[in-house]
Amino acid sequence: MKIAVLTGGGDCPGLNAVIRAVVRRGEQHGLEVMGIREGWRGLLDPPLHDRLTREATSGILHLGGTILGTSRTNPFKKPANGPEMVLKNLKALNVGAVVAIGGEDTLGVATKFSSMGVKMVGVPKTIDNDLSGTDLTFGFDTAVGIATEAIDRLHSTAEAHKRVIVCEVMGRHAGWIATHAGMAGGADVILIPERPIDIEKVCEHIRNRHRTQGKNFSIVVVAEGAKLAQKESTVNEKLDEFGHVRLGGIGQQIADMIEQRTGYETRVTVLGHVQRGGTPTAFDRVLATRFGVHAADMIARGEFGKMASLRGTQIVSVPLQEATAQLKTVDPSLYAVAEVFFG
Ligand code: F6P
Repeated sequence: MKIAVLTGGGDCPGLNAVIRAVVRRGEQHGLEVMGIREGWRGLLDPPLHDRLTREATSGILHLGGTILGTSRTNPFKKPANGPEMVLKNLKALNVGAVVAIGGEDTLGVATKFSSMGVKMVGVPKTIDNDLSGTDLTFGFDTAVGIATEAIDRLHSTAEAHKRVIVCEVMGRHAGWIATHAGMAGGADVILIPERPIDIEKVCEHIRNRHRTQGKNFSIVVVAEGAKLAQKESTVNEKLDEFGHVRLGGIGQQIADMIEQRTGYETRVTVLGHVQRGGTPTAFDRVLATRFGVHAADMIARGEFGKMASLRGTQIVSVPLQEATAQLKTVDPSLYAVAEVFFG
């Protein structure tokens, strides 16, 4: 059987490790693997594809990005006959099954095609770690490592200048990166989308630290999707093809408010896409490899309409709908542990 593999949505360290694993395990099952370029875009007209072999995927395990390219193209939105085009091209290319590696949007599209009869297998991906069907997504550990290192570095410059530094990290709907990196980096306040920001309380934590703990610097970590409790943030209203607002700006807003209210000199650092770039950690390479092998095994078993998922320490198959059914938000008990160290 010929199978196709594609990577959609924002890139994520570990995508190449999944591709390599699908190819290596797929070949062991006698599958011919085709790489679809630029996510779902590559199945529209004209289709964009390459044969993937062991040789073609050699030496990519440790590389960031994706050798297939990615896009946020949603064939159910554009063009009008997008779904028909995809089905026509899958037939013309003689593709028997598709491995879709992506987050909620890419897997949402995969779920729709699955219900239309396409033999579909999913692999969950996002640095945000907010997919409900799996305990962890690959890329998250790398992003947390990069953010933690940045927070470590911000500590020394904050201390040298007696400043408050606000570090804005990724996390559109869930504050997993902020919570983990903030805890690992010893942040004095962590702000996440799950908890509307009470700016007075934030300033109180900082004042308390400076007045009673003898400290003259503080680090605040804020997830890009966090919102002020007092009013809705309307910093940037540009939308992508899935209708998502392009985020960014809450860090600066918070920094301005802290400086105004406390009088402490405050700076902001926005980590942005550096959290998604570059080489994956060993943990993410292993998780991505396990997902890729499992996906190829699912195809060999004829197990479709499901995605590979980490449950505890085991890789299992769960219905594709589970990936997008619910947002996996930060566990309140984890955030409660982080809060012990605020102020
Ligand atoms: O979904 C992963 C993510 O990195 C989010 O944390 C972030 O909001 C978004 O992608 C950024 O998307 P883009 O690469 O389109 O700017």
